[in-house]
Amino acid sequence: MKLTRREAIKLGLIGSGSLLLPFVKQEPAFAQFSPQIKPFELPFRTPPVLQPIRSDATTDYYKITMEKARVEILPGLKTEIWGYNGITPGPTIRQQRGRQSVVRFINNLDEKMSVHLHGMASLPQYDGYAEDLISPGYYKDYLYPNNRASTLWYHDHAIHQTASHVYRGLAGMYIVDDEVEQALPLPKGEYEIPLIIQDKRFARNGSLILDNLNNRGVYGDVMLVNGVPFPRMEVANRKYRFRVLNGGASRLLNLQLNKGELIVIGTDAGLISAPVKTRTLRIGIAERYGFIIDFSQYPIGTRVILQNPISSNNIDRDNRTNQIMCFDVVRQESDDSLIPDTLRFVQPIPISSALRTRTFRFDRNNGVWKINNLGWDKNRIDANPGFGDVEIWNLVNPGGGWIHPVHIHLVDLQLLSRNGRNPLPYERGWKDVFLVGENETVRVITKFGPNIGKYMMHCHNIVHEDTDMMTQFEVGTGGDSPLSAPAKPISQILPL
Ligand code: C2O
Ligand code: CU
Ligand code: CU
Repeated sequence: MKLTRREAIKLGLIGSGSLLLPFVKQEPAFAQFSPQIKPFELPFRTPPVLQPIRSDATTDYYKITMEKARVEILPGLKTEIWGYNGITPGPTIRQQRGRQSVVRFINNLDEKMSVHLHGMASLPQYDGYAEDLISPGYYKDYLYPNNRASTLWYHDHAIHQTASHVYRGLAGMYIVDDEVEQALPLPKGEYEIPLIIQDKRFARNGSLILDNLNNRGVYGDVMLVNGVPFPRMEVANRKYRFRVLNGGASRLLNLQLNKGELIVIGTDAGLISAPVKTRTLRIGIAERYGFIIDFSQYPIGTRVILQNPISSNNIDRDNRTNQIMCFDVVRQESDDSLIPDTLRFVQPIPISSALRTRTFRFDRNNGVWKINNLGWDKNRIDANPGFGDVEIWNLVNPGGGWIHPVHIHLVDLQLLSRNGRNPLPYERGWKDVFLVGENETVRVITKFGPNIGKYMMHCHNIVHEDTDMMTQFEVGTGGDSPLSAPAKPISQILPL
């Protein structure tokens, strides 16, 4: 059964314009607001960059422990989080294309975990398959090939538990660089900044509230950037490059500056062909974009606010999710960076090269989220493209007041159209997550590879994913089983 129109109206999901709909009106049962904090007072920070434990000619070896910690997120309160190395977001891994990473994830938590590096073409046994679980007291070494420059993120993917695990803190950024990108005169170093945006809700004592509204979604009323609520960043009057990730559970973001434009330079899986100026940038869960803000257009002393305007009948009574962070232009600096007119050519995959088209319907059925009316079954394969085959996939949302950010593992894809219309200018790059709005058919094209084997596809509203909007496809035949490199007990741990 779909959400009825009445149910959708009750939840405030109808009547505010099609792509802005995953915002749930507060209901009495749900109306618990986080303690108020004044925005733009806490200092901005970025997650630490993780150093390898050791390196050899081909590979860098890292170690991350999943553990609980009590941290101060809201001033004066302690929040229990589950974090990679006890922090959230976890440490950033920064790697060079062509080098290999081995990341040892040790599970010191009391639930089973699976770690997915979102955006990496990992072998099936290292892709964080939802049923390839690391039990408490176990560890697993994941191997990552780092085969292209892009902005990725690692997060939990445990079957039916992803929303709770990611929401409690198990997410971090992972960046792959390469010489081509490094040779461009874009802002670098301290002027290249990750922005991991997440919305969370806190009880009066500071603990996280996880209310999934009967499996519809988890919506917070505190906007965190890199784990800090509504932070304030001091900037020089020059260009900065940002890598933004919507790392929340369910909330769609619509980024906008209170004055000026964003200059988009990259999508999920790397740079786009040419920069695109935009007033607003729509980011579904798990999508990544690269953009530049040129602060030289503002006089010193200007406060620039990164906003998230939703719609006039916004669901948050205090409208707190309408703003995210601020940039205070505090100093003069010279700027030798440039935004080249051509960044990295994205060669369109010709439609004529597609061997077949498949259609997947993302819908609600008897109160359960499904794909083509089916839920997750590790023994079922819903598509079997040959290795190297080009296919067009129709991702269909038949309506119902919901959008679904659909993520396909392994491959980078290109967006062909939405309901026959051209993609937004800034979506014309390599991507692995596609917002499928109400009553929309999103057509995407890809060439299946570079690996064979079984990989997942799911809605990245992680509450939908858990219950049960997830399936798998298999590229070719004879790939490694996703379960072929099981976790091992910590008692058998060998030095990396
Ligand atoms: Cu970001 Cu299958 O996940
Ligand atoms: Cu993924
Ligand atoms: Cu969904």
